[in-house]
Amino acid sequence: MSEDVPSQDQRWPWWPLLPLYPYGRRRTLVRELLPGRIWSFEQLQGVWYVAVPIRMTVVKVSDGLMLYAPVAVTGEVRDQLRQLERLHGPVRTIVLPTASGLEHKLPVPAMARAFPEAEVWITPHQWSFPLALPPRLLGFPAGRTRVLGTDGLPHADQLRWLPLGPLDLGLGTFLEYACLDQATGALLLTDALVAISAEPPALFDADPTPLLFHARERGDEPMLDSAEHRRRGWQRLVLFANYLRPAPLDVAPLMEMLRTSLAPGCRQARSHFGLYPFRWRSHWQEAADALLPPGPPRIQVAAVLERLVFPRARPALLAWLRQLASLPELTWLIPAHYAAPVACSSAELAALASELEARPWATSEGNWAFLAGIDRTLLRLGLVPAEPLGEGSLSAGKR
Ligand SMILES: [Fe+2]
Repeated sequence: MSEDVPSQDQRWPWWPLLPLYPYGRRRTLVRELLPGRIWSFEQLQGVWYVAVPIRMTVVKVSDGLMLYAPVAVTGEVRDQLRQLERLHGPVRTIVLPTASGLEHKLPVPAMARAFPEAEVWITPHQWSFPLALPPRLLGFPAGRTRVLGTDGLPHADQLRWLPLGPLDLGLGTFLEYACLDQATGALLLTDALVAISAEPPALFDADPTPLLFHARERGDEPMLDSAEHRRRGWQRLVLFANYLRPAPLDVAPLMEMLRTSLAPGCRQARSHFGLYPFRWRSHWQEAADALLPPGPPRIQVAAVLERLVFPRARPALLAWLRQLASLPELTWLIPAHYAAPVACSSAELAALASELEARPWATSEGNWAFLAGIDRTLLRLGLVPAEPLGEGSLSAGKR
């Protein structure tokens, strides 16, 4: 990623379909994760500057390249992929490894059009809301779209595919396909597990605005750039992304927020004209330290998934984790968000499964209270099932 890439090469015209920051301009950080075999294409996306990295992983397969969980295909992304194609062969396969992750689903049609010779593989149980549209109307190309599991599995001689789900979410289905690259021991994941670094990712180097925005205490503070501000902004941003409304956060009364808006130095779109409704209580740092302990990023289930996707499906998650832990080649995790690659052995995943089994699950206390409230409301309205692993619903452990 560099600032000398013309802005038109970072243009993403389909952003209104999912209007997330940074909207129509998507910078991409390309990194070689495992030499000659696996690359990462990272972009930012989020709401109100709560921007987290989203990753496409590119794997060299025997006859070319496979794209796992595509990101927005800008001119920059296309150019970088063409460079890889020149060295390693054509893009053969584009994989949408999730049934529910809209942020991963939306870039697929444009990526498929950019590589008209590639086969497109999607998970079964694709769904859309509020209208239930068939895959063809979701933009997956007719004639070259195949369904994981149902129509076989791509590159099955080199890759192992391990589904988590399907789990009944009420409105739709959760299903995610992990993919083990047997040559490197890298396990590609979508949303089920993450590892979050305590330091802000390099993706923010080109434009740290989201970090500096959240580093402040009030809307009339200028956005000052320093390593400390970047780190503080990142920690708060991660608390938002995980808990939506973490316990140490208050929302400022409207009048107070308006009083501090439009302050000198803040009268610009970049600082949202000084509109900043967040008030962090003094103990916010303890919450951040618990989520982001110093040292290597800790492998974890994102809180929002634990509380809203898996609250009553822990057995399915544990069965899947133990299935992953039985892979003797396992060396790296490469999730589609936050840090990667993360060193990980079979024993570590087995220990994570045991830890998740032993500790209280999907609690309603402290940071979890807001997520728990959403879950309770969805349950009361009958929008999510009380027994997602009940009759008629498959789980990883039952397949
Ligand atoms: Fe995701």
